[in-house]
Amino acid sequence: MKTDSPRPIRLKDYRPSDYLIDNVDLDFKLDPTKTMVASRLKMRPNPAVKSPAKSLVLDGENLELVSIKLDGKSLSESDYTVTADTLRIHTVPQKPFRLDISNKVDPEANTALSGLYRSKGIYCTQCEAEGFRRITYFLDRPDVLATYRTRIEADINEAGTLLSNGNLHEKGTLDGGKRHYRVWKDPHPKPSYLFALVGGNLRSSASSFTTASGKKVDLTIYVEPGKEDRCAWAMDSLKRSMKWDEERFGLEYDLDVFNIVAVSDFNMGAMENKGLNVFNDRLILASPDTATDMIYEAIESVVAHEYFHNWTGNRITCRDWFQLCLKEGLTVFRDQEFTADERDPTVERINSVRKLRSHQFPEDGGPMAHPVRPSSYIEINNFYTATVYEKGAELVRMIQSICSRDGFRKGMDLYFERHDGDAATVEDFITCFEDANDVSLKQFQTWYHQAGTPELVCKFDYDAKKQTAELSVEQVLPPTRGESKKKPLHIPLKLGLIGSDGQDMPLVKAGEGVVSDGILHITRRSQKFRLTDLPERPVVSYLRGFSAPVNLTADMSDRDLEFRMAHDSDLFARWQATNDFATRILIQLAKAKEPTKHLQRMKTYAKALENSLQDTSLDQAYRAEILKLPSEADIAREIARNVDPDAIYQARSLFSKTIGKTIGKTLEATFDETTTDKAFSPDAESAGRRALRNVALSLLTARGTKADKARLQAQFANATNMTEEAHALYLIAASGGSTRQAAFDTFFERWQQDHLVINTWFSAQAMIPAKSAITRVRKLLRHPSFSLTTPNNIWALLGTFAMHNVREFNRADGSGYNLIADQVLALDKINPQVAARLLNVFRSWQVMEPGRRKHAKAAISKIAHTSNISRDVYEIASKMLDA
Ligand code: BES
Ligand code: ZN
Repeated sequence: MKTDSPRPIRLKDYRPSDYLIDNVDLDFKLDPTKTMVASRLKMRPNPAVKSPAKSLVLDGENLELVSIKLDGKSLSESDYTVTADTLRIHTVPQKPFRLDISNKVDPEANTALSGLYRSKGIYCTQCEAEGFRRITYFLDRPDVLATYRTRIEADINEAGTLLSNGNLHEKGTLDGGKRHYRVWKDPHPKPSYLFALVGGNLRSSASSFTTASGKKVDLTIYVEPGKEDRCAWAMDSLKRSMKWDEERFGLEYDLDVFNIVAVSDFNMGAMENKGLNVFNDRLILASPDTATDMIYEAIESVVAHEYFHNWTGNRITCRDWFQLCLKEGLTVFRDQEFTADERDPTVERINSVRKLRSHQFPEDGGPMAHPVRPSSYIEINNFYTATVYEKGAELVRMIQSICSRDGFRKGMDLYFERHDGDAATVEDFITCFEDANDVSLKQFQTWYHQAGTPELVCKFDYDAKKQTAELSVEQVLPPTRGESKKKPLHIPLKLGLIGSDGQDMPLVKAGEGVVSDGILHITRRSQKFRLTDLPERPVVSYLRGFSAPVNLTADMSDRDLEFRMAHDSDLFARWQATNDFATRILIQLAKAKEPTKHLQRMKTYAKALENSLQDTSLDQAYRAEILKLPSEADIAREIARNVDPDAIYQARSLFSKTIGKTIGKTLEATFDETTTDKAFSPDAESAGRRALRNVALSLLTARGTKADKARLQAQFANATNMTEEAHALYLIAASGGSTRQAAFDTFFERWQQDHLVINTWFSAQAMIPAKSAITRVRKLLRHPSFSLTTPNNIWALLGTFAMHNVREFNRADGSGYNLIADQVLALDKINPQVAARLLNVFRSWQVMEPGRRKHAKAAISKIAHTSNISRDVYEIASKMLDA
């Protein structure tokens, strides 16, 4: 282990800044390796701090300091001290003062993609969370809010487009037209993490939006030349987002322009910089032949998410990074609600819950567990987690169900009224809902401070004589690292009772406890509810709409599940019943000595599935979700101990094949009925049709007759859109045989010029369920289209391999673990943030059977014991081992 272990930052150590910055004047002279940055800061002592330190400490990393002036006077070297990450000016005035700093940065050398970097000839910044300090010396913390004026100057041929936050204020040419400049002014005070600058030769696609109060906003999306015709969907999504935020939350946009830039090397999906969102280009560019429906949907929701940050994140920002869920959890909740309104709300809910269970539950149940509001971190970039985002969004959703939708809106209105312009905390947020609704969220707050996924153990006892039932609910709160004693939580449990006629029975409660809208409020470790007026034993539908982020256990027979698959009026719960039934069978198969003995149970399930498939009152998109089997990772998570990925793979293959055989005729009909010669449209309904067609194709391919193989080849050869083409490629990759390499070659020939589509080619190969996957992935790392400096390539090849090719990543000989560990180390020298994220694929190593566990531990230890690893990778590796 590194000897000089980095020290954690703690929430309890939060102190307001001794100094404030009111105004920032920046001047950039862009150059690939020597960009000059001049910054003028108008500063003053913070009146909220009693006796500020005499010296001023600014953050700064990887900067070459050129000069400093204080109130116009040059400072000499004895007036300040520079370290690797700070600049200390020994004495500053105890009244307003002006600081002029000039420094140099090297954008080409910046492969970490944090701060100012240059990729594919485009200058671009990423400042959240702590990247601004890699541009110039600053108080780089979110509670220091300033107005910015930014002047950018560059060679006109090298960077014809120059953008920054706010409105364009001035422009001009220099040197007889060889150089030019732009001045941007952002009137809204903001923290440094929302600063952005872009320079390059870009093309644009423009439109406009008129706000509810009649203000016209110019909207422009900038992309690399030749891609302008792939922005239409992103633009449409942006306008719908702007409208939705006005209608649902009464929030209007607040500048004359809203710009988006798409770049190809970007650490994250996208970033909400004020008035200048920067996107990973895979989340902007779309055309029917290059983007799948999944990508279209992701574009819509990420464009919405970043736009929604304008109010939840930018106008009201975070006091410190421990409050990250204040903007991220809330904004994810908002983008989920947007998707629910634009598309099928049940399908939206299923997808969000899937994401929560596949990413957040393992995090919460393993060595990386932390509360939605953590109390310490080593590297903040490691805390943009599924817990902060996805569980954070679930907490906001529970506040909405506790306060009701109207009450929630009142709380939000109060939040904007009270805190506009503030750097706020989670407590500030919660207090608004208490004050607007006259409810207490005191116990509820524990959700923010306590890690771990609660388990609700439910028992339902029916008394035929009295026509009553007793529901007992126990909340089990498993210990997490460093937190063994847990407090009981306030858990809203939405419940339905279904009669034998398939209709809901009224939920009538006698005695203690609160019930409203079918929600039982669980507040104690163990609680009993008495339900009356029940002329027959109902089938219980638990956790409707997934009313809380918990695991639920209850006695439920196969027949009850089958019944709910047909009748549950809550479509989310109906999907859940389907999924639970499938999971049960898959676990049984994975543990069975002779899996074929369980044919009858598989057939029962297949028949129930067929009924849902034929129920045309259900949306096609929803039926597609019903038809999807739990993934290998889902099954492993449910098994949770001594996992054997080979057995899981075999079980899942057998189950798919049996379903394909049992209901093949109906699947064929579904496939044929969803054929169309209509022109491609990305709307939700058309996407639902294609989704249903693709799952049908998957199950038919699993059946594996000659005709099935031919159908798959035909789909690959004749597909007229990427949704069908890519799905066919994945299915071909998953099946062995001679056609596989030919399909890869064809696909490469067709798409080698497209740096986005080629990621699908990498992913499909990473999914090959055979030993050869490892040698192939190693070979592809050296492919000319692959680069460790492009995060999208990393995720396509290595991310897909480790997260989705469960069997090969977890090979019994440890070769899959070694492959990823080697790449984490190689990548750490280039891009520590992405290296640390990739290392996270090991987070569930402890659930494996002992042999694999040993290999995984050795791979993680090797990383932890390598000298000079980044703080990012160090934090993850050490926590992963210390569990
Ligand atoms: N503010 C984040 C981007 C970010 C994340 C910056 C981590 C720095 C470090 C942005 O709003 C965001 O959350 N982006 C998500 C997509 C979103 C739809 C959940 C992302 O980039 O994955
Ligand atoms: Zn966000």
